[in-house]
Amino acid sequence: MSSSTTGAKKTVTFTLDGSNRSTTLPVLSGTLGPDVVDIRKLYSDLGVFTYDPGYGETASTESRITFIDGDAGVLLYRGFPIEQLAEQSDFIEVAYLLMEGDLPSPAQLEQFRRGVTYHTMVHEQLRRFFDGFRRDAHPMAVICGVVGALAAFYHDNLDINDARQREIACFRLIAKIPTIAAWAYKYSLGQPFMYPRNDLSYAENFLYMLNAVPTEPYVNNPILSRAMDRILVLHADHEQNASTSTVRLAGSTGANPFACIAAGIAALWGPAHGGANEAVLKMLAEIGKPENIPEFIRQVKDKNAHTKLMGFGHRVYKNFDPRAKIMKETCHEVLGELGIKDEPLLDMAMELERIALSDDYFISRKLYPNVDFYSGIILKAMGIPTSMFTVLFAVARTVGWVSQWKEMVEDPSQRIGRPRQIYTGAAQRDYVPLSRRG
Ligand code: SDX
Repeated sequence: MSSSTTGAKKTVTFTLDGSNRSTTLPVLSGTLGPDVVDIRKLYSDLGVFTYDPGYGETASTESRITFIDGDAGVLLYRGFPIEQLAEQSDFIEVAYLLMEGDLPSPAQLEQFRRGVTYHTMVHEQLRRFFDGFRRDAHPMAVICGVVGALAAFYHDNLDINDARQREIACFRLIAKIPTIAAWAYKYSLGQPFMYPRNDLSYAENFLYMLNAVPTEPYVNNPILSRAMDRILVLHADHEQNASTSTVRLAGSTGANPFACIAAGIAALWGPAHGGANEAVLKMLAEIGKPENIPEFIRQVKDKNAHTKLMGFGHRVYKNFDPRAKIMKETCHEVLGELGIKDEPLLDMAMELERIALSDDYFISRKLYPNVDFYSGIILKAMGIPTSMFTVLFAVARTVGWVSQWKEMVEDPSQRIGRPRQIYTGAAQRDYVPLSRRG
């Protein structure tokens, strides 16, 4: 393979060994990040596919929404650094930014905020869906089912090729996911559902529906709602991660957005992805006390133990996950403001991080804390049960999923996703009747 730059155009030439076949393919450059080789003519020219299980080196789409520089530990939402947005913005403004591409004017922000606020209620018949679940069902199973069921209420008037109907679907999903998530929690408790309130911010409303009861007034805690808002901002979007790629693949078939977001929820649930925040708390509980950390680290390094340091490592970040840094700072702030002096889990997490970051096994593999390592400790301090951690991730990531879905549907070049494979199964052979089999 060789590359060249003729004029402004960069190209790369592939020559197939043992044949006189070669092809010269265009190299495309984005605003930031690595160039990409456009391989759309590779098979027609050379009769070969590329092979990249897990898509570690493959760009599946063009996007203008989020950019990550994994080596520099940079995360940008529409070009704005996550550190600035976490400090100066709020979730609804970030939602507008991800959906629309730029920071809103005051009037645009107010209109967007109202658009979300006035879609937070769900159809009253949707309440009955919850009754079909066991009270001890995992809330991710519940929200996955209920979000998919939204299609039963809106699918008949949802033309994804109609911009106005796409916009309403996005508002419905962003607005209703906190209500559905909070009701999944209330259902598990056997407590009455709390209806959303139009006088509260997105984060305040979510905490209200999670924690309020009809029998007494609810007092919003500004420390907790500010922390919740920041956690939602940090989790809002993250390029073409597994769940976002699931949403895009489902959307590429023309499936309705409710079905696509339900698919994203299902993918996020996995412990290698959004389920890691819940897994971190379980891991810290299993370690039990700091003196057990060296033995745990030994197990992680022993391949036969099949033990991972949950909340560590990332496909893209080979340096600190910037969200983990902000989450760690927020953790200290929230615990301090809540008057929680010594949180054993935080002490344990910090000791685990210190030991791991001084151990060559992790350094050589560029394993650093990711967004999930500290988030669970804050959420636990905020009174959120472990089973709801990934649900909260899904509430935040719904904004990213609908933004990416909308970008995909509106991309004139998009086509149904259909990866190829390398086949290593049996060559063609004839059927053997049962009577002739041993
Ligand atoms: C999220 O993609 C995104 O953007 C996701 C996300 C988002 O916002 O959408 O950032 C959210 O999912 C964060 C990641 C949360 N998951 C975890 O914390 C679970 C623990 N992490 C690992 O499962 C793992 O690090 C992954 C899944 C996150 C990344 O896996 P990769 O990129 O496929 O890396 P790998 O498995 O090829 O690991 C390379 C090496 C291997 O060792 P060797 O075979 O080379 O000897 O590092 C080891 C792995 O065994 N390794 C770990 C490890 N993660 C990788 N060893 C111990 N503990 C870990 N956590």
